[in-house]
Amino acid sequence: MKTVHVNVSRGYDVRIGQGLLQDCGRAIRSVTDASAAFIISDENVFVPYGRTVMERLQGAGFLVDHYVFPHGEQSKNLRVWGDILEAMCAAQVTRSDVVVALGGGVPGDMAGFAAAAYQRGVDFVQLPTTLLAAVDSSVGGKTAVDLKGGKNLAGAFHQPLLVLCDTDTFRTLPDRELTSGFAEVIKYAVLEDGLFSALDPVPSGEALEDVIARCVSIKNDYVSADEFDRGCRALLNLGHTVGHAAEACSGYRLLHGEAVAMGLAAIARASAVRGICSAETADRIVALLQRYNLPTEIPFSVPELRREMLRDKKRSGSELNLIVPEAIGRCRTETVPVGDLDAWLRDGGVS
Ligand SMILES: NC(=O)c1ccc[n+]([C@@H]2O[C@H](COP(=O)([O-])OP(=O)(O)OC[C@H]3O[C@@H](n4cnc5c(N)ncnc54)[C@H](O)[C@@H]3O)[C@@H](O)[C@H]2O)c1
Repeated sequence: MKTVHVNVSRGYDVRIGQGLLQDCGRAIRSVTDASAAFIISDENVFVPYGRTVMERLQGAGFLVDHYVFPHGEQSKNLRVWGDILEAMCAAQVTRSDVVVALGGGVPGDMAGFAAAAYQRGVDFVQLPTTLLAAVDSSVGGKTAVDLKGGKNLAGAFHQPLLVLCDTDTFRTLPDRELTSGFAEVIKYAVLEDGLFSALDPVPSGEALEDVIARCVSIKNDYVSADEFDRGCRALLNLGHTVGHAAEACSGYRLLHGEAVAMGLAAIARASAVRGICSAETADRIVALLQRYNLPTEIPFSVPELRREMLRDKKRSGSELNLIVPEAIGRCRTETVPVGDLDAWLRDGGVS
């Protein structure tokens, strides 16, 4: 098992290893005196893992209740979030109880935001069951739901008490979801030197645990320096500005990581054309994405992408901040006037 400590205002451990769900009751008991635990999950995850988590929590002396919603991004909305809060109220969850998020980024974001809002804030624990949630969404305290106008537009910063990533759960994860998670892993490998070479061959078993721990540790570097995302944490958006636009253009049929892969490839190519990085750097990034069978061509037009990019919540007036690679292990922010976006997208290989 690997442990990474996240150094934020109220720090916490991220534990990564096999079989951690089997011991989750004791682990959660070690960080809280709560008398009740309220599990929030989706049905894809709750069916194989809910019973174990409930039994282990009961075994550690918690009264246990749960709320399970239909899987997928289409559930990440205010209606389901309201239903969760009502269910917590009906179950008489109190401020001193603990919420347990069991699943990928969708249950994690929803449960985190419910925990942030319920009675003005209750503690929560993350049990990520996707690679994406393990390396990204379960760590750092960003919680949110989508609004009709866009993704993650309502939310709060609320750090978990503990993150337990049981890598055994990846065995039931569909291949496409696992592959999608590797796009975020590759993003970290472009941000920080050293990880890139660990990704070929594709890691599994203990090597995958190492890679997850390194990603979490990189995320910790940015989150601990900028907990509320007002500065350097923006670098974690590498590949995401174009990626989010591609995801929206697809009507959310693309998985998040697939869209991020397209965004990473486009920004790497555009950076090479503009002399920000070498052609070799861009080629290495694109080749690694392709090694993981991730998509590197964007099937949408420049006007379609531009329209979505202008909705980006990080746009400030007539400028957009793009994160660009200068080399493997060195990225920076490039402020781009909205009028230059089309040229950037064309340089990124979008037609
Ligand atoms: N809060 C953050 O910092 C942050 C960062 C990145 C992404 N996100 C959010 O995360 C979400 C994407 O996360 P995701 O890809 O984990 O999505 P997800 O939670 O929808 O999981 C993907 C699919 O895999 C299924 N699944 C999950 N674990 C499984 C398992 N072990 N076995 C079988 N099936 C399983 C789910 O039911 C779902 O169908 C997006 O909403 C995105 O906005 C948040």
